[in-house]
Amino acid sequence: MNLVWPFPSSRQREAKSRLIFALDVASLAEVREYVSLLVNEVGLFKVGKQLFLHAGPRVIHQIRDRGGQVFLDLKFHDIPRTVAKAGVEAARLGVAMFDVHASGSLEMMHRTLTEVHKTCRVENLRRPKILAVTVLTSLSKEDLKRTGVHAGVENQVIRLAKLAQEAGMDGVVASPLEVTRIRRVCGRNFLVVVPGVRLQGETWDDQKRVLTPEEAMRNGADYLVVGKPIRDAADPRAAARQICAEMERGLAAFLGRAVPLFRSGVAR
Ligand code: C5P
Repeated sequence: MNLVWPFPSSRQREAKSRLIFALDVASLAEVREYVSLLVNEVGLFKVGKQLFLHAGPRVIHQIRDRGGQVFLDLKFHDIPRTVAKAGVEAARLGVAMFDVHASGSLEMMHRTLTEVHKTCRVENLRRPKILAVTVLTSLSKEDLKRTGVHAGVENQVIRLAKLAQEAGMDGVVASPLEVTRIRRVCGRNFLVVVPGVRLQGETWDDQKRVLTPEEAMRNGADYLVVGKPIRDAADPRAAARQICAEMERGLAAFLGRAVPLFRSGVAR
């Protein structure tokens, strides 16, 4: 059995495998509908707290049975043992990615990685990629200050991204505006998964810090998480294809730049 999830290599240009559709819906009927419609257009389906609490683990099975891969976005944050055990169960469900809060500590992240790795080896499972959430994009500098963090949002994001890397996490979830700096600090092999993407001219809804798919990929994002622009489109399949075409252009620009950038040692 192949024990590695079929993630795109850094040189693979196919944007489709790097597009994550946020399944922010509240019924299994909608899940079936969107997965059937988009399984050949996107790389992964993101399942968040609402859908998981509504439908339970069977939503993961439904997506996988239809050929989709899952990013389980439950943002675990608890004592190390509890998060590690939750991570093990996520791996047993067969998700391709899940996430934890980097602020849960180096030990929490490291223990989760170790236990998930061990379980996957013993039980012959594919090990999910484990991502760390740095600072939620809903938090402002003032919000951080009230929790005793005076470093400012971006500095705190970078500090937590470095901590996540030290703990062995596969990457982080970050706002599009932080991609460039994370990429520079954490290097090419650290995944950066980016929500908050909008097509040119689209309304921004509740998103405040947004970039277009092309810009986000050009800045070095590995994966984009997109919900509303696909979900609410008159033709979700066409919307996903348009986003992929934009991603393709951005990725080509990034890869064109990335080789000299990394050779010169700038991107560490
Ligand atoms: O806004 P949109 O529907 O494209 O968001 C896609 C997903 O990304 C949602 O599940 C949302 O919770 C998540 N998101 C996020 N951080 C943001 C914006 C959205 O994690 N800043």
